Amino acid sequence: MRIFSGLQPTGRKHLGNYIGAIVQYVEGQQRAADAGDVAIYCVVDLHAMTVPWVPGEMRERVYDTASILLAAGLDPDRCIFIRQSDVPEHTELAWHLGAVTAHGDLNRMHQFKEKSAKQRDLVSSDLFTYPVLMAADVLAYRADEVPVGDDQRQHVELMRDVAQRFNERFGDVLVVPELKIPEVGARIMDLQDPTSKMSTSSASLEGTVHVLDDAQAVEKKFKRAVTDSEDPPRIVRDKSKPGVSNLLDILAAARRTTVEEATASLAGARGYGDLKVATADAVNALLAPVRERYVELRADEDALEDIFAAGAEKARAITRPVLADVREAMGVGPRPRG
Ligand code: TRP
Repeated sequence: MRIFSGLQPTGRKHLGNYIGAIVQYVEGQQRAADAGDVAIYCVVDLHAMTVPWVPGEMRERVYDTASILLAAGLDPDRCIFIRQSDVPEHTELAWHLGAVTAHGDLNRMHQFKEKSAKQRDLVSSDLFTYPVLMAADVLAYRADEVPVGDDQRQHVELMRDVAQRFNERFGDVLVVPELKIPEVGARIMDLQDPTSKMSTSSASLEGTVHVLDDAQAVEKKFKRAVTDSEDPPRIVRDKSKPGVSNLLDILAAARRTTVEEATASLAGARGYGDLKVATADAVNALLAPVRERYVELRADEDALEDIFAAGAEKARAITRPVLADVREAMGVGPRPRG
């Protein structure tokens, strides 16, 4: 079982990213290894160029993101950790996949509609073909499993269609990957608006806990978290209580236990204040070591470049033969000899 996922180098990673995605990536390394295979994680700098970016900051954001992932426990010796632009087979395969991607399907992508509506001067063709490059990211490795957030569902469905169409037309060359949506992270909500997901683009900075927030900032955000005015206060997970439910979900995830156990641990609580303090403490216990390691890792950019260079080499040992098969199946390039 081979895993592939990609992460944007933009935006600061928040608690929803951490609990929903990053923790699953770290676990995926072992799951893939146990199955005699490997997990590939990719910082997608080329995708970050589909909307306006600052050239002088791109590399910095890649280092930031890489340092967070490594601090959280991605181990470049146990997985393949790459920067997208270091592995040219991604872009090469994207071109070939374009041949079996319907323009009409790309036109129906929700994310393209949303992002193109926000552009002021240019809607680039890279933004339009974003899902084709994403398909290439995964298909270049013949990956079986793609762990992503629910917002990426349509992109993964498209990549499955593209792989199927390729195989029907050119023979069984590519693997049709499965979508895997992490359950917990899909549920981490904004602390100020617990009916919408915690997100990078949220209106309230107050409601978003960042991985690199210091302990005091984390405490403050949880102290101000929206709960409800039920009297007497009830600490239970219930549809009618989105704020309290969210805190219980976060508490359980941060302590790596169940919501039932987290709820039981608060049986003697006097009110929501106790729940907030317990949750802030658990989140700080979870993130403090990550923040410490982050500072060390981020300080050594040469070391990060060495990690990327080694990752690209391991990656290309997989992608080069896949691209050779793709070219051969499509009848492109030199006649194979020997
Ligand atoms: N589009 C994904 C996102 O915005 C990032 C991504 C790029 C990705 N390539 C990928 C995710 C391949 C999974 C597999 O989150």
